[in-house]
Amino acid sequence: MELFRAHVIDVDGDPLRGNGRLRALPDGALAVEQGIIMSVDDYDTLLHRHPGSHVHDHRGSFLLPGLIDVHVHFPQLPVIGAMGLPLLSWLNRRTFPAEARLNNAESARPAARSFLRRLAANGTTTALAFGSHIPQAQQVFFEEAAASGLRVCSGLSLGDRDLPEALLRDADTCYRESLELIKRWNGTEGIRYAVTPRFSVCCSEAVLDICGTLMRENEGLLFQTHINENRDEIDLVQRLFPWAEDYFATYERYGLTGSQCVYAHNLHAGEDELSRMASAGVAVAHCPSSNSFLGSGSFPMRQHLEYGIPFAAASDVGAGTGFSLFKEALAAYETQMLREDGVALDPAALLYLVTGAGAKLLGMDDLVGSLESGKQADFVLMSPPPQSTLAAVISEAGSSGQILGALITLAREESVAATWVAGREVYRR
Ligand code: GUN
Ligand code: ZN
Repeated sequence: MELFRAHVIDVDGDPLRGNGRLRALPDGALAVEQGIIMSVDDYDTLLHRHPGSHVHDHRGSFLLPGLIDVHVHFPQLPVIGAMGLPLLSWLNRRTFPAEARLNNAESARPAARSFLRRLAANGTTTALAFGSHIPQAQQVFFEEAAASGLRVCSGLSLGDRDLPEALLRDADTCYRESLELIKRWNGTEGIRYAVTPRFSVCCSEAVLDICGTLMRENEGLLFQTHINENRDEIDLVQRLFPWAEDYFATYERYGLTGSQCVYAHNLHAGEDELSRMASAGVAVAHCPSSNSFLGSGSFPMRQHLEYGIPFAAASDVGAGTGFSLFKEALAAYETQMLREDGVALDPAALLYLVTGAGAKLLGMDDLVGSLESGKQADFVLMSPPPQSTLAAVISEAGSSGQILGALITLAREESVAATWVAGREVYRR
């Protein structure tokens, strides 16, 4: 048995919907055996229960559940910080060209390693990642994801129009190349496959149709795409699909519905659309820093709660401003503070948005998302650099809730000391 001793901070239940709360143990510990959390309690209690355990003494640091990023783009690390453009020109001028450069295994491998390393360095233990459009690059991404020890859901990005030549594939090729990757990777080595049409702008009906076929023909897949991010994008989708009553209808027609479907953004949905998304059981990835960075709009969280559409926070790198889900939690908080109908979010709700909510979206809440006995030992150790503002604020904090508020507001990559997945250290500062 291994005991990880620290100030343990976690969320019990779902504070967004009024049935959860912060759970903190200032001198707590996690008892871990064979990658599983056996118990979480005060350190003294656990040592008494498990005498002779190997103790990792992290007193003075904060141990939180591993963070879960439900929307992030593998090929977009170099695009972070590409300023001054709204979505469609940001894609055409900065992002598609950058993605097209990762067009072989040689360029994709260091990019994949760097991307996965940044996830772990930010305390992210599970990610749903948009892949490359290029199968050789996506194959390398899966190889590196398996080697990283992280839990990664991903898939080949698909599109057959409005993309640079290097990223284009016709529908038959999209089907065949996706199927090969599904057969090779889905369910192996911590990896799950996600069928990934980029968005309706660059997918003809034939591509959306093969996505529905792939979802029906293969068990245990996830589905991810974008929806209702930007007004010009929505107008374009309306012109491309004149029969569709709204953006969701372009996916709905092809059966891209159900709880395994994660739709990124959803800032500008109509009432009927929200109601159909709720009935369809789909979930939403809320990407607050990306939404501000591209000037796309702000997330109507209250509507999503009222309609009963599940959502979790995500970085959306490279439109998002970095891999830190603490920063996304802060951006989610600020967004709601600015909206007239904003939801009042406390530190527990914000931690839930980047942990348990994501686990639920991915159908992994029996495995990860909180520090509970029986779950996988996925956790992050936060240790603010000495002399930092964060260290100064925490030294004055009167409660675990205040400490968590300070972590969300100030902790970034430099405060992540180490990250574990299934009890195995995958990153150390
Ligand atoms: N819509 C289609 N592709 C993308 C992308 O790469 N990033 C964002 N933010 N929106 C998209
Ligand atoms: Zn995205």
